Amino acid sequence: MQDTIDKIIEKYKAMNQDPEIYLKGLLHAKPINYWDYIEVDTLLSLQKPKTNFADEEIFIIYHQITELMLKLIRNEVDQIIADVHLSMDIFIDKMERINRYTGLLINSFSIMSEGMDYDDYNQFRLSLTPASGLQSVSFRYIELCFTDIANLVNGPTKKMVPENASIEEMFNYVYWQEAGLNRQTGEKSLTLQHFEDKYLQDLIRHAYAMKDVNVYTRISTLQSDDSNKRLVETLRKFDRLYNIKWPLVHLSTAQAYLNKKGENKKATGGSDWQKYLHPAFQQRKFFPNLWSSEEKDNWAKEYLS
Ligand code: HEM
Repeated sequence: MQDTIDKIIEKYKAMNQDPEIYLKGLLHAKPINYWDYIEVDTLLSLQKPKTNFADEEIFIIYHQITELMLKLIRNEVDQIIADVHLSMDIFIDKMERINRYTGLLINSFSIMSEGMDYDDYNQFRLSLTPASGLQSVSFRYIELCFTDIANLVNGPTKKMVPENASIEEMFNYVYWQEAGLNRQTGEKSLTLQHFEDKYLQDLIRHAYAMKDVNVYTRISTLQSDDSNKRLVETLRKFDRLYNIKWPLVHLSTAQAYLNKKGENKKATGGSDWQKYLHPAFQQRKFFPNLWSSEEKDNWAKEYLS
């Protein structure tokens, strides 16, 4: 006990502070409790349905769970990016955590696909137009932490990108423009306009900041047959989970609610969603160096119907 008190005294003296005042303060400090620490009341007050359909709360809470899991992914990838001297074991450990979080998102998606009343969902979703998951900036931040913006341009669009395009210009060709940009007229859907008004400048700043430090840049000399098999496998696993498996469970959910009887309902974000959401169309790969040409050519093709 005395040893701990001595260390506390040393700590405050080193900060040029009077340790006695801090020790006296402890006498009055209230004991911590679960509900304040976890912010339970705040957390449970964050669901504000727009309709009276009970299942809308499931929809809101599951989106919030997703945002929190994405925050956990950010927490790990930010640490990888911040420390260029990270040991290989810790790097792999962090990638494994990221794979676990992504796996949880994939395995829990049935909460959406099977867990809401079909007719009620198709009623309350109409009140949400023009909002769309497309406007979740967390997905976009994460993508730019893991890879160069050039890897976020899909196959056919690559040909349109001017030579030596700046990062800012590259944003005109990034795969998610396909959800709402009419390349003939230059018009954008309202969903996309709102998203860009709010986040585009931040995303451009983030892309510049990540340019030389994103995970792909860090491992770009690695090949799929590298002797460090564990590292290659965790990175390939993440690419597959985030860029094929999650998009597929999400797409099949959209099909379950919007195309159950082949009626191809209009999505709240107005995209040509059956095509846009398919990973074989998006062609998003964070680590192209870790896939053979054949694997890249066939990216998610086996899931095309
Ligand atoms: C019943 C559940 C869901 C349905 C039917 C659905 C449907 C759709 C559709 C049709 C789109 C295409 C854009 C549009 O035109 O609106 C889309 C985009 C998107 N949604 Fe969902 N969604 C569901 C749940 C979720 C959840 C839980 C999330 C998690 C935050 C999410 C995140 C996204 C993202 C990130 C995009 C853009 C995808 C991309 O750019 O690759 N969605 N969603």
